[in-house]
Amino acid sequence: MTIYLFFPVCLKAPPPRTHVPPADPDSGLYYGDCLRVLTREIAPGSVDLIYLDPPFNSKRDYNIPLGGKAQASVFQDTWVWSQTQEESMEFLAREPVLFQQVQLLLKFAGGGHVAGGGGLEAYLAYMAARLFACRLALKETGSIYLHCDPTAGHYLKLLMDAIFGGKNFISQIVWNYGTPSGGRASGKKPVKSHELLLAYASRYGKHTYNRQYTPYSEKYVNDWFRHTDEDGRNYRTRSRNGRIVRQYLDESPGVPLSNTWTDIMQLYGSAGWFPTTQKENLGYPTQKPLALLERIIKASSNPGDLVLDPFCGCGTAVEAAQKLGRRWIGIDVEPLAVDLMARRLRERCGISPRISGIPYDFD
Ligand SMILES: C[S@@+](CC[C@H](N)C(=O)[O-])C[C@H]1O[C@@H](n2cnc3c(N)ncnc32)[C@H](O)[C@@H]1O
Repeated sequence: MTIYLFFPVCLKAPPPRTHVPPADPDSGLYYGDCLRVLTREIAPGSVDLIYLDPPFNSKRDYNIPLGGKAQASVFQDTWVWSQTQEESMEFLAREPVLFQQVQLLLKFAGGGHVAGGGGLEAYLAYMAARLFACRLALKETGSIYLHCDPTAGHYLKLLMDAIFGGKNFISQIVWNYGTPSGGRASGKKPVKSHELLLAYASRYGKHTYNRQYTPYSEKYVNDWFRHTDEDGRNYRTRSRNGRIVRQYLDESPGVPLSNTWTDIMQLYGSAGWFPTTQKENLGYPTQKPLALLERIIKASSNPGDLVLDPFCGCGTAVEAAQKLGRRWIGIDVEPLAVDLMARRLRERCGISPRISGIPYDFD
């Protein structure tokens, strides 16, 4: 049984807030279509880092369990050309060159037919407008990470090139999320085990990048840090300016982060449906691990910077940003998601977020 929940979740009385302090005044949650929020509520050129994890064009609908067999529909990832796509194209028309590039891409995606037909075109038109709105919100020193998967990743990369400029491409990161099972292991093809992060700068070279490190593997340590000094510390020798120097293992930062991430596992199933030992799992479909967001935020922003997630789901990006001392903005079009994010921030970060735009009644 699927129950479509829209307003009931926001008609609840707001929870008592006396024991939780408010978040930083610059931080907040917005309910609504991110295209509207980005263009009406966010000052142009004000955001340091955008992470977005939009629907991937998976042709599925996503539900959360309500107990027993009942489910609530949270978001749909099936696409048809509608008024929303017309409005998206209208928004893009203010940038004529970009508009033409997007039209060309839509024709290509539609197999040469005029835009207006298939699901992929509808998806890309929707994404193009929202990615363009992200570009307008980013600072000159800012960067953006678009989370996607191989379903439409190749089209999205062309879109990102058109919107941000190919010369501002930072990296395509492959996130290998762990052991695939279930539906992912079916079909006459290799098992899907990764998603993609397309990272672009507003202006490459001006963007923030704090080098991150991952721990050395045991093999690496055994192969390279083979010497032990009189105090029992492991080291290797290196040649610097013609001199042999010691590099101690306990003073070494690790391996500089590459663009293939294999050390962060996905969250399994949904809390309430499958037994899970993962405490951070809130049961929101497509919830991403906190460690993934922490890595992105540490690499591409500094404390005090403003981090924005326009497709924020259950708020992984905003929890990570808050814990790392950044200001943050989370946007989602589902009241259920905004409700969950507010609860998450109260319970896990001890702050009461400012929420804008939540509809409290039908009008
Ligand atoms: C893949 S989920 C994000 C999950 C999130 N990264 C997390 O860790 O919980 C995508 C989210 O985008 C939201 N969404 C879809 N279209 C949107 C739009 N136009 N504006 C804002 N949010 C939107 C959906 O409601 C959904 O919560």
